[in-house]
Amino acid sequence: MNVNRLWSIISMPVALLALWPIGPATCAGDIERGHYLIEALTACDNCHTPRGADGYDFSKRFSGGAQTFSDKTYVVRGPNISPDAETGVGAWTVEELRAAIVDGVGRDGRLAPVMPSDSYKALTARDLDAIIAYLRSAAPVRAPLQAPQQRRGEWAPHPMPGAPAAFDEGSLADKNAHGLYVGSLARCMSCHSEEIDGAPDYQNRLGAGGKIFRNPAGVAVASNITSHQEKGVGTWSDDELKRAITQGVARDGAPLRPPMSTLSKAHFSKMSPDDLDALVAWIRTIPPKE
Ligand code: HEC
Ligand code: HEC
Repeated sequence: MNVNRLWSIISMPVALLALWPIGPATCAGDIERGHYLIEALTACDNCHTPRGADGYDFSKRFSGGAQTFSDKTYVVRGPNISPDAETGVGAWTVEELRAAIVDGVGRDGRLAPVMPSDSYKALTARDLDAIIAYLRSAAPVRAPLQAPQQRRGEWAPHPMPGAPAAFDEGSLADKNAHGLYVGSLARCMSCHSEEIDGAPDYQNRLGAGGKIFRNPAGVAVASNITSHQEKGVGTWSDDELKRAITQGVARDGAPLRPPMSTLSKAHFSKMSPDDLDALVAWIRTIPPKE
């Protein structure tokens, strides 16, 4: 081997290192893990990535969602969370990003509860940093937030029972805790619990369904996924539950409606077998409700 070639092999990693952004903007998180969490569980794209005819438009990933969410107290859209410094969150510190994701606090104060921080509170410190690392690895997209955008509320947090704060890694060795962790990050109960005054009634109606979703495809009512024998999924087999979650198919084989079908196909279909097993085992522990 000639000396020039040898030198180019040695210098290549050095050159790559020089290209790697080092400084306050980087985050030590595990990008691969962050990718998995966002793809399979937390589904940030659902509100922060625009859609084309065939689903998400990944050429503009994280540049802001198409939907406008409104309630008595807010009119909001999923903002640009790509690393663009001006129109996205490229200039935010890691601490600011952590606060937005798990505390629901943005630069201008409390975020409207559409941003599901309550479901993300369970994130282990490592998984939270992994998500931030993946966000920071995405391409910056310039896209200012579209109006209207109003917030007039002091929304109290409504954390998932058993998941009000960061889990520690060690606790996930327990299958039930692992299932609760997956279920919390995937927001199952925030949709599948009946609401009182715009907030899920986890105390009395955990998993009982009843929340109504209106979208261009029509109206869907979240199902009862408690272990109730007739009203819930108590008599479903593990395979039937897994198929509903990962393929968006009802027990009788009919396709489920959005938003369940959309989340199943774009996200939950990517769940690891371990996460899916733990999730199904945990769903079976939800006390039956009519
Ligand atoms: C169900 C919809 C939804 C999902 C899912 C969602 N978000 Fe949000 N997010 C929002 C909305 C809406 C806002 C703006 C709320 C407001 O303006 O009060 C927001 C705000 C934010 C902000 C603050 C940005 C700013 O400019 O103020 C960050 C950061 C953020 N989300 C990150 C994430 C990450 C990371 C995930 C996934 C782990 C995620 N979001 C999942 C809807 C969502
Ligand atoms: C954004 C809201 C939303 C999220 C998040 C969500 N679901 Fe659903 N889910 C629904 C709706 C709405 C339906 C009813 C769809 C229909 O009627 O076609 C449904 C249907 C189902 C069904 C079918 C039940 C039946 O009786 O046919 C199962 C099982 C289910 N969801 C489990 C889950 C699990 C487990 C998770 C978390 C991994 C989850 N869902 C996350 C809204 C959601």
